[in-house]
Amino acid sequence: MPKLIIWQNGKRHDARFEGAPVLSQVLAQAGLALPQPCGGRGRCGKCRVEAQGEISPSNAFEQKAGSRLSCQLMLRGDAEVFLPASQEMAQIQLEGEGSAGALSPMPGHIGAAVDIGTTTLGLKLYDLKTGEHLASAAAVNPQTAVAADVMGRIGAALEGGQQRLQRLVEDALQGLLHQALKEAKQPETALETLVIAGNTTMLYLLTGKNPLTLSRAPFEADHLFGVWEDLQGRRAYLPPCMNAFVGADITCAVLASGMCERGDTALLADVGTNGEIALWKDGVLHVASTAAGPAFEGAGIHMGSGSVPGAIDSVWVEEGMIRAHTIGSAKPIGMCGSGLIDAIAALLDLGLVEDTGATDEDRLYLAEGVYLIPQDIRHVQLAKAAIAAGIRTLMYEAKVRPEDITRLYLAGGFGSHLDIKSAARIGLIPRELADKVSVIGNASLTGAARLLLDTHQLDALTRIAQRSRHVSLGGNPWFNEAYMEEMLFPGLD
Ligand code: FES
Repeated sequence: MPKLIIWQNGKRHDARFEGAPVLSQVLAQAGLALPQPCGGRGRCGKCRVEAQGEISPSNAFEQKAGSRLSCQLMLRGDAEVFLPASQEMAQIQLEGEGSAGALSPMPGHIGAAVDIGTTTLGLKLYDLKTGEHLASAAAVNPQTAVAADVMGRIGAALEGGQQRLQRLVEDALQGLLHQALKEAKQPETALETLVIAGNTTMLYLLTGKNPLTLSRAPFEADHLFGVWEDLQGRRAYLPPCMNAFVGADITCAVLASGMCERGDTALLADVGTNGEIALWKDGVLHVASTAAGPAFEGAGIHMGSGSVPGAIDSVWVEEGMIRAHTIGSAKPIGMCGSGLIDAIAALLDLGLVEDTGATDEDRLYLAEGVYLIPQDIRHVQLAKAAIAAGIRTLMYEAKVRPEDITRLYLAGGFGSHLDIKSAARIGLIPRELADKVSVIGNASLTGAARLLLDTHQLDALTRIAQRSRHVSLGGNPWFNEAYMEEMLFPGLD
C-alpha cells in the first residue's frame, strides 16, 4: 500500500492509502484535515500545501491559486506533504479552566475526553487511575468540506450524505486517538472509555442517526443522548443535549463553569457560527441558540482568514492612527475573528465607521494591503446583533437585569481570543458585563474530562439538562425587535 509522509510543525506522521485518493481525504483520515471553506471546490485557495512524489499534475484551480491544493491534488503513489504551520494544534482551543482530578473515574486504564465541534475536533487522553493528562490532539472537523455550518450538514445528510459524514468524523476521531495514544506511548487496546461532547447535530452525525427532525419545524430532537454507545469497539458516553440546538457541548460547558452549583445569577455564552447562550437564575437554566453566521471565524469577510501566521489578531488606536498586530508578527495577509472585532471597535472610536455601520470609505486599511470593506461591517453587524439580541431575549424571559448577573462565562475558542473591551465596544456583549467576564476556554472539553474522571459529576450533569428551559428565538417578537436594535453599534459613553 503506498505511503504518504505528512510533515506538520516539524513532526512526521505516516499514512497509508489505497487507490488514487484526493489528498484531503487521506489527511482527514490521519486526523490532520485542513480547513476547506469552499467545500473542497478549489475556489478559496485556503487548503494550500507543498507536496512531492507520485502526485497528479497541477490542475486549473491549483494553477490559479499558484499552489498545490489538498482538495485537488490526487495521490498516485508514495508522496510527501508539508502542511502549513497554521495547522498547529495550539491554534485549536483545547485548554479550559480548572483541572479535573481522578476522584471516581470511569472504568478502564486510559480514557479520552472528546469535543466534536462543528469546525474543530479536540481530545485529551487521561490515565484513569491517576487522573494524569497524557496527551492531546486536535484537527479541523473534516465535515467542514461538506458544509460549514450545522444546517448545511443536516441538509447534506438528508440528501444521501449521512454515511459519508459519519465516516468522515469517525475516521478523523480515530486518527486523533491514534496520534494521542502514540504520543502517550500507549497501545490502542489501552483505551477503553470515551466521553464525547458535541452539539446535537454532531452527535447525530457521529452515531449515524437520521437528523430529519432537526431540519424542520418544530425543530425537535428525537434523541437527546445522555447514553452509552459502542463506538468502534469502545464504550463511549454521550452526555445529554438540552434540545435540538443546545447540545451536549453546552451541557458540559455549563458543568465545567460550575454556574448551576451556585445561587447567584450567571450567564454563559459560546460565540461561534452558532451562538449558544445559557442563563442560570433561581434554579432554572434558560437556554437559547442563535445563528451568528461564520463572520467571527473570518468567513464571508473580504480579507478574513483563520488564525494563521500573518492574520491580524489585534488592532488598536495609537495617536489617532490604526495599529495592528499579526500572528507570528508575519507580513499581514488578512484578519481573524479577534482582529475583526478589534478593527471595528477602533474604527468606531476614530469615527471612521458610524453607529449605523455606515462609512464613507470603500476600503478601511488596518495594515499594508489589509483592509475592511463596507460589506464586512454589515456582516459583523448581523453576527453581533444575533448574539446580543439572544442575550437580551434570555434576560427578558428570565426577568434579569444586567446588574443582576454576577458573572458572564465566555466559552469556546473565539471567546478565548476576544478582547473583551472591543467586544463590549461593538455591542457583542452588554457593556455592563464587561468587568464580569470569565474566559473559560474549551469548557465543553473540560466538562467531558470532568465526567471521565469523576462519575459523581453525572448527577450534576443530568440535573443541568433537566433544569434547562428552552427559549425559542425563531419568530420570537422580543428577539426580532432586539435584533433590529442591536444592528446598531453602541455610541460612546
Ligand atoms: S481550495 Fe477551497 S478547500 Fe481547497
